[in-house]
Amino acid sequence: VASYRFCRSDDLPLLSRAHEACYRPHFQELPALDVSALRRAGREIDLWTSSCMVAAVGQEPVAVLLATKRDDAALIWRVGTHPEHLRQGHGRHLLTSLSSKLAILGPRRMLAEVPAERAAARALFEGCGWRLDLEYTDFVLRRPSRPAPASDLVMPITIDDLVSNAAFDGSARRAWERSPATLLKRKDSVRGWAVASDVRIEAHLLFDDDPAAGERRLLALGCADAALEATWWTLLVGQLAGADPRPLRYARVHAGEVPFELLLSWGFERGPTTLGYTRQPQAA
Ligand SMILES: CC(C)(COP(=O)(O)OP(=O)(O)OC[C@H]1O[C@@H](n2cnc3c(N)ncnc32)[C@H](O)[C@@H]1OP(=O)(O)O)[C@@H](O)C(=O)NCCC(=O)NCCS
Repeated sequence: VASYRFCRSDDLPLLSRAHEACYRPHFQELPALDVSALRRAGREIDLWTSSCMVAAVGQEPVAVLLATKRDDAALIWRVGTHPEHLRQGHGRHLLTSLSSKLAILGPRRMLAEVPAERAAARALFEGCGWRLDLEYTDFVLRRPSRPAPASDLVMPITIDDLVSNAAFDGSARRAWERSPATLLKRKDSVRGWAVASDVRIEAHLLFDDDPAAGERRLLALGCADAALEATWWTLLVGQLAGADPRPLRYARVHAGEVPFELLLSWGFERGPTTLGYTRQPQAA
């Protein structure tokens, strides 16, 4: 019989072991999630051990749930069952246990981002009463078509600059790893470029480096005047693409964030889809 329990702050080694045994066999391309990576996830994406669970048979982890928590929502970051223990109800038990806990303690909204090609995971969430909310698409710009000459209009900017000039949109709805709250927590490693007029920051983009993948990541685009988005973003993205030969990845973009036709016109290629599910926590 399996035992299920929520973790404590001193359970990081157990969580790491459970993740390696139960989640990573399904996603072998992911780097190992060791204790320092778990701590970083705590700092950057608000992974809380008290929202994480391990299912075990004896001493052996058979399933794991890793979830984040902020005031407005909790995200099921990763849920996985050991390949030899699938279809025994562990995934469902983990999701319903967290749901019952959050029904009492909040937040009032649960989210999940599930790769569309993962049929079992989709069936799990749908079978547990989660609702499909939105669709994200990955984009990558492999080769900037023509390096744009450096523009005098574009200047470097920090997230602090954006905040102090009221140009940082804290309510923008983006995938959790690029959400405004995550970017604020990662602000020391995030870089930005902007176009400013005498009175305000007209438009900006935020990006960072992903040395392990040999890529840069586009993290956010912002514009003060929606009518000028296409103009300013075309300039900014062109500058960014022309400044570095590495691919530029824009992960988990939804259509309300930037029109996909614009991304395609800049030379981005469409990649895999991720499904955003949601549900309200519910007492068992
Ligand atoms: C998704 C996953 C966690 C499900 O774990 P599990 O312990 O096997 O799931 P459960 O046994 O609790 O299944 C609960 C329900 O989900 C659905 N389900 C789960 N796996 C399914 C599958 N392969 N095909 C169809 N339905 C499935 C069924 O409705 C099932 O109920 P049933 O067995 O009574 O029919 C597991 O398949 C897994 O680890 N996948 C890889 C990791 C992953 O993709 N995670 C999601 C991204 S965060």
